[in-house]
Amino acid sequence: MLIQYLIYSFFIAITLAEKGLKYTQYGDIRKFYACNLQISASVTYCNKQTNFTCLCTNENALATYAGCLAYQHRNSTKATNTLVEYCQTRGKVALPENWFGDSYDYFLDHAKSASEIPGFNKSEVIDVPLRFDEEKMSLYQAGYDGYYLNLDNSLYYGSAILGYWLLIMLISAVGNWSKVMFPGMVKKMTSGPVNIWRKYISMPATFHKKKTEHQSFLKFFGFMIPSRYETIVIFLFYVLTIIVNAINMGYVEGNPVKRVKTRALLEKVGDRTGIIATIMTPLVFLFAGRNNFLQWLTGCSYATFITYHRHIARVMFCLVVIHAATYTKLLNFYADEMKLTYMIWGTIATIAGGIMLVQGMLYFRRNSYEIFLLIHIIMASLYVAGTWIHVDELGYVWFVYPAVAVWGLDRLVRIGRLISFGFPKAKVSLLDNDTIRVVIPKPKYWYAVPGGHAFIHFLKPTYFWQSHPFTYVDSPDQSHIVVYCKVKGGITHSLYKMLTKAPGQTTTIRVGVEGPYGESTAAKYADSAVFIAGGNGIPGIYSEIFDIARHVSSETNKSLRLIWVTRDEKSVEWFADELEALKGSCIQTTIYITRPTISNDSDKVEKVDSGSSGSSSSSIKSRLAHVEFKNGRPDMSQIVVNEIRDSPGSVGFVTCGHPVMVDEVRYYACQNINNPENKRVDLYEQLQVWS
Ligand SMILES: Cc1cc2nc3c(=O)[nH]c(=O)nc-3n(C[C@H](O)[C@H](O)[C@H](O)COP(=O)(O)OP(=O)(O)OC[C@H]3O[C@@H](n4cnc5c(N)ncnc54)[C@H](O)[C@@H]3O)c2cc1C
Ligand SMILES: NC(=O)c1ccc[n+]([C@@H]2O[C@H](COP(=O)([O-])OP(=O)(O)OC[C@H]3O[C@@H](n4cnc5c(N)ncnc54)[C@H](OP(=O)(O)O)[C@@H]3O)[C@@H](O)[C@H]2O)c1
Ligand SMILES: *[C@@H]1O[C@H](CO)[C@@H](O)[C@H](O)[C@H]1NC(C)=O
Ligand SMILES: *[C@@H]1O[C@H](CO)[C@@H](O)[C@H](O)[C@H]1NC(C)=O
Ligand SMILES: *[C@@H]1O[C@H](CO)[C@@H](O)[C@H](O)[C@H]1NC(C)=O
Ligand SMILES: *[C@@H]1O[C@H](CO)[C@@H](O)[C@H](O)[C@H]1NC(C)=O
Ligand SMILES: *[C@@H]1O[C@H](CO)[C@@H](O)[C@H](O)[C@H]1NC(C)=O
Ligand SMILES: *[C@@H]1O[C@H](CO)[C@@H](O)[C@H](O)[C@H]1NC(C)=O
Repeated sequence: MLIQYLIYSFFIAITLAEKGLKYTQYGDIRKFYACNLQISASVTYCNKQTNFTCLCTNENALATYAGCLAYQHRNSTKATNTLVEYCQTRGKVALPENWFGDSYDYFLDHAKSASEIPGFNKSEVIDVPLRFDEEKMSLYQAGYDGYYLNLDNSLYYGSAILGYWLLIMLISAVGNWSKVMFPGMVKKMTSGPVNIWRKYISMPATFHKKKTEHQSFLKFFGFMIPSRYETIVIFLFYVLTIIVNAINMGYVEGNPVKRVKTRALLEKVGDRTGIIATIMTPLVFLFAGRNNFLQWLTGCSYATFITYHRHIARVMFCLVVIHAATYTKLLNFYADEMKLTYMIWGTIATIAGGIMLVQGMLYFRRNSYEIFLLIHIIMASLYVAGTWIHVDELGYVWFVYPAVAVWGLDRLVRIGRLISFGFPKAKVSLLDNDTIRVVIPKPKYWYAVPGGHAFIHFLKPTYFWQSHPFTYVDSPDQSHIVVYCKVKGGITHSLYKMLTKAPGQTTTIRVGVEGPYGESTAAKYADSAVFIAGGNGIPGIYSEIFDIARHVSSETNKSLRLIWVTRDEKSVEWFADELEALKGSCIQTTIYITRPTISNDSDKVEKVDSGSSGSSSSSIKSRLAHVEFKNGRPDMSQIVVNEIRDSPGSVGFVTCGHPVMVDEVRYYACQNINNPENKRVDLYEQLQVWS
């Protein structure tokens, strides 16, 4: 029933939209409104105050209009033409082109003020133009300005917020592209102010080391803290939102248009917040999309955009709540209004927004991402449909179209990407009891962006709709991509259970691949590129450094370092083929084994615990003779300091792995921006956390 009603009224609204209810900028029209109201409220020329057939043919009435409009030069073409329109549409009278000039002359010659007309009574017809009191005209204008100017201004204020984000995007774009287009110049930018900016604003976590690591709070209220730069951007956005919702909120006492101050102010607040929230809508949808051209432009990751998305959406919801609250108070008197379709849909949108705010909490995203996503999509559809219907007749639907457009386009591109990859059969195998390797044949035209990731669908009836992001490694002949998935609790666990039963712990599954997403970093321009991976964070890191090594010419003195921190020798085994391919390249590789199962000197003796998969740990080390093995967790502060010291020039750190490790690399890279030799230090975080 309910669903039927919802669908039904949604289509009614779309039909209404066809009628093209357009947005009106009131501008000078409100000057005409002020005179029109004042005339109909204070003087009578016709049997009925709003009989424009009569008013538009009455020279005294027209002269009164002209005299009123001339006050403070309100007679702009727009204002005088509005009367022409009124006469045409409401009175079927065509006013002459020069009606204003003629009427104004007539006004100047004949007009009288009320006190000059003996026995003046505003309800009795008079036959002279009336000259209004100036103070009174100002009050009428102020009353109208309070309402219509607010509607007009709200558009500008909402645009200011869009402008703010555009500015942020441009700043990021300059930072991003300057590294690509003028790498030599950027490398030399280590002067005092630049370093201060980078050390205290652009690089660090907001507090100490807390960026990708999630913070716990009362069990259910875990959260993540954006980087310091992001925090500042978000903070300024909050400030700007408060400012644009607070300025120009005055009320002129004694104005005859909006007589009750509280109602006038409630209305202003309600209109302002409602309009600004509507204008923000496209931004919320654009930032949430996987195919957001701004990612490419700014070099900001999807995770960053999702961070912004969350904050803009929260602000938008707060505005919607204020809007709803003020109008609920205002409409107390007209309960019937609540039964109108547009009000019902406005309410639906508000509730949907509220649900999204709660179900989008990190706790729910962490614990059941797929359910979060499903509810989020349904609620977002209700939100956008509700907003559409609610604002349609108010002319603000022009801000809902782009929101729907970017969402629709994103979905379309996603389907296009899936189809263009095809749905090949992938070889899936379980390695070392905690990692799943997926070898996927790829079409020739599909370019595996080094350091990028793709969303994988495993086409099984129970989870084909789920798409999970994974980084990949290009196979040497570039005919396959290889994905290494850590076994966790959801889809990876289902695969794990299936594989434990499969012969040889291997099977084939048809997969869909949506990608590539993400970009390589600008570390390739640094004199020394240091790639630090932790555990299953290795594939993306590897594919990027391997790609750099392939393109680097041997006579440059570029130094390439790969550091992989992993738990035991067996995890090295599943990545052994890739590591072996580094033999002969200019990449210096170090692997830290944090929980070695064999002691230092046991390379010659027998290992304590051999893997289930044939090749032994000591033979792994001899097979990877070009790789340096170390036991124990590395000290990140030492690694960072040493790499900077040993670098021939600038250093770029790229990292992905355990969030705590990534935060440590960020922290120490930032601490060492001011280093003795004044080498440029950059940090690129390839770990993305949005859930
Ligand atoms: C850009 C990117 C690249 C990644 N690359 C790799 C990789 O190369 N190897 C690897 O092992 N892991 C990688 N991950 C992590 C991987 O996506 C998750 O481990 C995987 O989705 C978990 O699936 P699950 O159903 O078993 O997880 P669950 O046990 O259900 O959840 C485990 C965690 O994964 C998160 N998660 C679940 N589904 C998604 C989703 N669709 N999108 C985002 N997060 C999700 C959950 O919020 C939770 O925090 C990457 C993640 C991102 C964002
Ligand atoms: N978002 C992305 O872009 C992306 C990409 C690829 C992978 N991932 C995800 O990243 C995660 C990383 O893989 P994982 O689960 O295999 O990691 P993990 O097992 O938790 O840790 C991997 C290694 O890092 C070490 N380590 C942990 N904290 C450290 C620190 N502060 N300093 C130095 N070393 C530290 C660990 O040592 P100990 O043994 O001493 O703990 C371990 O050897 C996975 O969840 C994977 O799904 C994300
Ligand atoms: C409006 O005025 C015209 C002309 O003065 C008159 O003919 C007409 O009856 C009036 N209409 C109404 C509804 O009073
Ligand atoms: C407005 O009225 C003044 C006379 O008061 C006249 O000079 C001016 O041209 C008018 N402006 C417009 C746009 O009609
Ligand atoms: C004005 O006229 C109306 C009737 O047309 C009358 O009811 C009212 O009392 C008059 N007002 C004054 C102030 O004379
Ligand atoms: C594999 O891992 C699971 C938990 O993930 C554990 O219960 C099981 O004992 C492990 N099996 C082996 C052979 O290590
Ligand atoms: C590399 O370093 C050597 C000595 O350190 C120097 O002579 C040479 O010019 C450098 N090459 C480049 C391309 O910078
Ligand atoms: C392994 O080597 C480290 C230093 O490389 C040393 O501190 C440690 O005692 C050694 N462990 C064993 C079991 O020999």
